Amino acid sequence: MADKLIIFDTTLRDGEQSPGASMTKDEKLRIARQLERLRVDVIEAGFAAASNGDFEAVKSIADHIKGSTVCSLARANDRDISRAAEALKGAASARIHTFIATSPLHMEKKLRMTPEQVYEQARLAVRFARNLCGDVEFSPEDGYRSDIDFLCRVLEAVIDEGATTINIPDTVGYAVPELYGNFIKTLRERIPNSDKAVWSVHCHNDLGMAVANSLAGVQIGGARQVECTINGLGERAGNCSLEEVVMAVRTRRDYFGLEVGIDTTQIVPASRLVSQITGFVVQPNKAVVGANAFAHASGIHQDGVLKARDTYEIMRAEDVGWTANKIVLGKLSGRNAFKQRLQELGIELESEAEINAAFAKFKELADRKSEIFDEDIIALVGDESVTNEHEHYRLLALSQHSETGERPHAKVVFAAGDREIHGESHGNGPVDASLKAIEAHVQSGAEMLLYSVNAITSGSTESQGEVTIRLQHGGRVVNGVGADPDIVVASAKAYLAALNKLHSKSERVAAQG
Ligand code: KIV
Ligand code: ZN
Repeated sequence: MADKLIIFDTTLRDGEQSPGASMTKDEKLRIARQLERLRVDVIEAGFAAASNGDFEAVKSIADHIKGSTVCSLARANDRDISRAAEALKGAASARIHTFIATSPLHMEKKLRMTPEQVYEQARLAVRFARNLCGDVEFSPEDGYRSDIDFLCRVLEAVIDEGATTINIPDTVGYAVPELYGNFIKTLRERIPNSDKAVWSVHCHNDLGMAVANSLAGVQIGGARQVECTINGLGERAGNCSLEEVVMAVRTRRDYFGLEVGIDTTQIVPASRLVSQITGFVVQPNKAVVGANAFAHASGIHQDGVLKARDTYEIMRAEDVGWTANKIVLGKLSGRNAFKQRLQELGIELESEAEINAAFAKFKELADRKSEIFDEDIIALVGDESVTNEHEHYRLLALSQHSETGERPHAKVVFAAGDREIHGESHGNGPVDASLKAIEAHVQSGAEMLLYSVNAITSGSTESQGEVTIRLQHGGRVVNGVGADPDIVVASAKAYLAALNKLHSKSERVAAQG
């Protein structure tokens, strides 16, 4: 039987470290549920010791997710490891992932520790973690730039202490495929107890080679776990992309000879959800999940595909979850049909009250938009004002006037707690005027880092516009997303959603310390 390749998703931990990609507890749980549907083997849910907010997010994922192992990152110290174990208590299957840097540069300049101290701390951390959890992963941070003799000593010691997975990070994306693959092969050959652990790859994409390096770690090095993120989300140029690795191994099974347990039809929904929540748009020519990944524009290609699909297609769009935009519901659809469609889309709303609120929003949308697609429903339930009726700021009404030669003007009515606020302002355009009308009263002082608009369903101006706004204030970066057929309204919703996140106080510290 073919070996299994373990898929370890770190969208919620390493992906979230990308500036601007931070997520709320509820958003993380929604993504974790989608990762469970995707059947990833391990979900790295966060870094429990980083803050109370991170702890609660890991805990909530551990309590709800039963189909995947749930993992928390922890620095190699007792406090971090205890917090991780505490957050993971409710998990059906739990893993603690502990790490310490082992490269000369990181040990000397960042940790200010001698190699002997690092060796000892790594050993004791794994020993401590194994007393709390049967599944312990160890990562030597910046492992690829570490001295190989020293690394062999550390890894042999942590395997002796009971580490069940050894992960070799290319923390700064410096590796090239052949060298990285051989690095792992050498470690496995030289470390006497290497067969007692599963070997794992963790590659960053600074030189655009994260996927190639990971696959070389698997093929040359014999690694049997890949750490990756949806859409390749992650700090700087991102991490190894889950969809690319999975589809490479599946499409080229003849070469890799490995099994993956992923339900590939859930890849595109996962990609859309992560993009919608983080506001990180997927480039159209991105492999597998980009809007053009299966579009054949040239006449020769179209002709070939019509005659025989495999002339130009190595994967089938439907196998990774692309479906044609289908009209699924309309104005006359009832609550039961709506509820059933939510179930078919794998969307779980917590209470009947939430379903009622979402259904009311759906009716409102159906009055204004004749055709409702799956994408509209997904955006609708992603709207925080639907899923969370306790939001502080809520849009109540908006009107705006713009005319050639006139300075646009907007009036916005919104709730702030139990107060109703009426704001108005001029602006460079109707969107600018609307946001200024809100800001004039809220006075958040936040700096806007991103404003982007996308059509939810492609190909027509009848689509809803989905707006993402990224704000920065007091060292925090938050995203707000809003959808509406009217992009001025969508913008106001997105702005209020971002202000709601700034309003809720959750502190974070950097995950790598
Ligand atoms: O890139 C890295 O080194 C990491 C470790 C914490 C695994 O993310
Ligand atoms: Zn990383």
